[in-house]
Amino acid sequence: MKKVSFAEFGGPGVLQLIDAEEPHAGPGQIRVAVRAAGVNPVDWRVREGQVLGAHPTELPSGVGLDAAGTVDEVGEGVEGVEIGDHVFGEGHSTYAEFAVLGAWARMPEGLTFEEAAGYPSVVETALRIIGQVGVEPGQTLLVSGASGGVGSAVLQIARERGITVIGTAGAANQDYLRSLGALATTYGEGWVERVRQLGHVDAALDLAGSGVIRELVELTGDPRKVVSIADLTAPDLGVRFSGVAGSVPDALAEAADLITRGKLHIPVEKSYTLADAAAAHTDSQAGHTRGRRVMVI
Ligand SMILES: NC(=O)c1ccc[n+]([C@@H]2O[C@H](COP(=O)([O-])OP(=O)(O)OC[C@H]3O[C@@H](n4cnc5c(N)ncnc54)[C@H](OP(=O)(O)O)[C@@H]3O)[C@@H](O)[C@H]2O)c1
Repeated sequence: MKKVSFAEFGGPGVLQLIDAEEPHAGPGQIRVAVRAAGVNPVDWRVREGQVLGAHPTELPSGVGLDAAGTVDEVGEGVEGVEIGDHVFGEGHSTYAEFAVLGAWARMPEGLTFEEAAGYPSVVETALRIIGQVGVEPGQTLLVSGASGGVGSAVLQIARERGITVIGTAGAANQDYLRSLGALATTYGEGWVERVRQLGHVDAALDLAGSGVIRELVELTGDPRKVVSIADLTAPDLGVRFSGVAGSVPDALAEAADLITRGKLHIPVEKSYTLADAAAAHTDSQAGHTRGRRVMVI
């Protein structure tokens, strides 16, 4: 099968499209014929060897955590899914023609594979951090870096729960944030005052890792009401860094339910082929994705 792989840590140029042995589903796993794979910022962090603690990586390594496709092998002990089902889920080495998944849910009706591949990791992350920051219906959540994959999911899930959201993003994404039900303002000089003018902040999420933890603590008045997924220095100010994926067991089923009820939609900014994996990483690494980028197989 065709698979994107890298044999050394480095820039996008280390990614190669190779012929590889097909993987097989072990106990508790399924294999899918991948139709699309989500591009997450962590994919290029893994490629650079930046996150070996959270993502131990043996070289040569495949790339990609998220996939949507057709089930073609069902591992021992797996129930409730049949060969031929369309699923979306999380696994490893998903930029490939076949990949093994450890968590999955049936794809909602009407969703394309391309769209479906954009949801798994970001919805798991969004549900996890909304829970960890402890924001209640009727309260206001500030989201720094709100227009990317995780932000798009956070905004819509919070809205569904009756939480008011103030989001920061670049000038080009202000209308996008408003379309997801958030109050919007730009990051950059004077942003703290602009947020204050939009309302009192009960809790805050740092999704961009842009060095704003101190300001988020000031705005909420309590480091326990701030969570970061992108700034490893957050604990220096008493703020939780959240990095354990897979801690929301029913995340994919909840995603499917929200999508089916029309409460969650994450747009695909751009699709790439496996041969364009380096371009996908270069674009993701620029840090200004609206919604998601996806590899289409
Ligand atoms: N720890 C975890 O469990 C976990 C899980 C998932 C993701 N992450 C990390 O979380 C981060 C966000 O992930 P993602 O998938 O949402 O990324 P993404 O899709 O690349 O989105 C990044 C967003 O950040 C915004 N941004 C860029 N510079 C900014 C700044 N100075 N201030 C505020 N916002 C800014 C961009 O908005 P504009 O385009 O409008 O500039 C863009 O929408 C990544 O670093 C990723 O590695 C961590």
